[in-house]
Amino acid sequence: MMTSYNKHILITGGAGFIGSHLVRQMVLNHPQYKIINLDALTYAGNLSNLEDIQAAPNYKFIKADIRDISSLREIFNKEKITDLIHLAAESHVDRSISNPSAFIETNVLGTTNLLIVALEAWKENLSSHRFHHVSTDEVFGSLGETGLFSETTPYDPRSPYSASKASSDHLVRAFGHTFGLNFVITNCSNNYGPYQFPEKLIPLIIHNIIHSKALPVYGKGENVRDWLWVGDHANALELVFLKGATAQTYNIGGNSERKNIDIVNMLCSIGDELLQRDPGTSSKLIQFVTDRLGHDLRYAIDSSKIQSELAWTPKIKLEDGLRKTFEWYLSNTKWLEKVINGEYLEYYKKNYSL
Ligand code: NAD
Ligand code: DAU
Repeated sequence: MMTSYNKHILITGGAGFIGSHLVRQMVLNHPQYKIINLDALTYAGNLSNLEDIQAAPNYKFIKADIRDISSLREIFNKEKITDLIHLAAESHVDRSISNPSAFIETNVLGTTNLLIVALEAWKENLSSHRFHHVSTDEVFGSLGETGLFSETTPYDPRSPYSASKASSDHLVRAFGHTFGLNFVITNCSNNYGPYQFPEKLIPLIIHNIIHSKALPVYGKGENVRDWLWVGDHANALELVFLKGATAQTYNIGGNSERKNIDIVNMLCSIGDELLQRDPGTSSKLIQFVTDRLGHDLRYAIDSSKIQSELAWTPKIKLEDGLRKTFEWYLSNTKWLEKVINGEYLEYYKKNYSL
């Protein structure tokens, strides 16, 4: 007998870091919805992130590329997609500096393809279908020592990555204004937690501490990020998707601003303890390296809107989350070593002269 689902939700980028947490949560929390995970499985996509739910009856994976509009049309028709949560993206700032075109192709053109196909598929009753676009706080630019990004902060993207995400946000709003697409946008700060690809600061530092390799800190390590546990982000995404007001933007942040050097030192202390090394062993591995080009100084989020409208708050404290993350990477060394493949090592060699 065919099961009938209330919604057929397409989640793009579901094999990536944040996407895999969201897919798992939606599959487990909503057996009445079918969750279709569309991912091109680039270097950042990894289906082993979802091994525990791959056999769930309300889950399906489709390998496809959002740059290919005809395959998107086919998937929307065949799977009768009713709603979309869009996370697929090229997501690493350093890679956007060495290869900007890939970011325009996926983040700008790929998002436009999804908008066009969603509009075609849902045109009879636009208001009953939702397009949730997942974006970043980096679209707002860089803060000085004080201040917070709110939903009304003017856009000022400064890297090819953030410019491509800003373009995609503008396009989503334009489809809402021009055609009446029912959209929501979320702009979130830096995530961390299990299954993050080790090119990003926290997993890279954890991996290098485990292997007693140099810990590369850009510039003087003074840049500030607002860190959020990935599970708290996934909860916020589920809430906004289900209950957020149409055509609204919600900022999501951890209220946990730290300088990069402080994050690295915290990880060194946790590493010394978990690996039973003498206190101070890992911090000797810190090396200050050439700064990122155009490196944004500080990001920090005012998340009062989602807190007051949707009663969301971040649950995991940074200190606890960093420890949980380190413990996860220590118990999942196979996962970590599997993703450290030839392509990643090539990238690492090119970017870091360590
Ligand atoms: P990620 O790089 O871990 O995952 C991206 C996923 O998208 C991968 O599975 C990859 O295979 C897939 N993908 C890439 N190009 C594709 C294409 N052309 N077609 C289909 N799939 C493709 O990224 P992440 O850190 O999980 O970020 C997910 C989303 O959240 C992104 O849109 C990012 O901009 C946004 N975001 C990330 C953070 C963060 O701290 N990581 C913070 C705020 C917002
Ligand atoms: O703010 C949200 C954004 O956070 C997301 O939109 C991006 O997808 C995500 O990658 C992240 O961007 P950042 O550039 O802030 O993250 P990353 O982990 O690359 O770097 C965090 C900080 O650490 C940044 O100031 C650069 C610094 N850094 C990074 C690496 C990889 C280092 O000092 N050394 C490193 O080796």
